[in-house]
Amino acid sequence: MPRDFLTTGDWTRDELEELIESALKFKSGDDRRMPLVGRSIALVFFNPSLRTRASMQVGVFELGGNAVVLEPGGTSWTIEHRDGVVMDTDKTEHVAEFVRVLGRYCAGVGVRTFAALKNWEEERLDPILNAFAKYSSVPVINLESAMHHPCQAMADMMTVREKLGAGRKRVLMTWAWHPLPLPMAVPNSFALAAVQMGHELTIAHPRGYELDEDLMREINERAFDAGATVSVTNDCEEAFDGAEVVYAKSWGARMFYGSPEEDMEERAQYRGKWIVDEEKMRRTNSAIFMHCLPVRRNVIVTDGVIDSTSSVVIDEAENRLHVQKAIMARLISGSGKQ
Ligand code: CP
Repeated sequence: MPRDFLTTGDWTRDELEELIESALKFKSGDDRRMPLVGRSIALVFFNPSLRTRASMQVGVFELGGNAVVLEPGGTSWTIEHRDGVVMDTDKTEHVAEFVRVLGRYCAGVGVRTFAALKNWEEERLDPILNAFAKYSSVPVINLESAMHHPCQAMADMMTVREKLGAGRKRVLMTWAWHPLPLPMAVPNSFALAAVQMGHELTIAHPRGYELDEDLMREINERAFDAGATVSVTNDCEEAFDGAEVVYAKSWGARMFYGSPEEDMEERAQYRGKWIVDEEKMRRTNSAIFMHCLPVRRNVIVTDGVIDSTSSVVIDEAENRLHVQKAIMARLISGSGKQ
């Protein structure tokens, strides 16, 4: 078993299935374990959050523990993550001390550190998250990095299982127009987890909004291992044909990292076209509608779809709580990193 939860790609399909089983038991009340009694979990947020922060704090509490929320640059010191630098500018503390000190107080560390959307080649390597993992003596849980949002993807897979049952499903992940370029962590992790769980995945996006090439290689390899399939299309209508799951998300084009105005100019042509509406949902096989939230109504998805009975976005958000409890119980019931 990996010592951290950084990406679902580090975990086997069996391990991911076990996490979902465990999450379903926490949700039903069949599992009332409290493995964190007398222990604390640090939650480090470089970026804003509703669901992740609230569900982690509640989850730690329900497992018997105490959550310590830290906001670098806000209520805690600014953090340097690069090794070997002369720290004579704006960063007060190096992650090497920050996270090792936390390890003396806490049994695990969750960290949220979004892409800055400035330099894809640097950000795709998740330098801040990996610095936390490198120096931490206790398990690290990725609460959304530049590249991955694995807790969200696990809640998504749990929701598909809960709503449609076990087994392969026709899953569409569609790009949607949004006024601003957004990070790619959610689509990256959703696509990876969907093929790890054996689904028939279609990824729809306009030309220029391709996912990372190395990640696509990993997705194709994992699909082969799991008997899943992957197809990519630029057709925002045909993509919906026969889908059982519609997962909407907007993201920025890698080629425009560092120049958001160019991305905004490019994407303007897709406004009103790349939206999930009732007409597109009618092409599906009675698909459920999913989104990680927060979502902009009548931009990403119409009121008619998100308020319909096919929308499962609130259950999906609830499942963050149960799946994160399963992840923490699995990672932290032992004695931490070896
Ligand atoms: N889906 C998600 O991670 O929500 P927050 O950004 O509100 O945590």
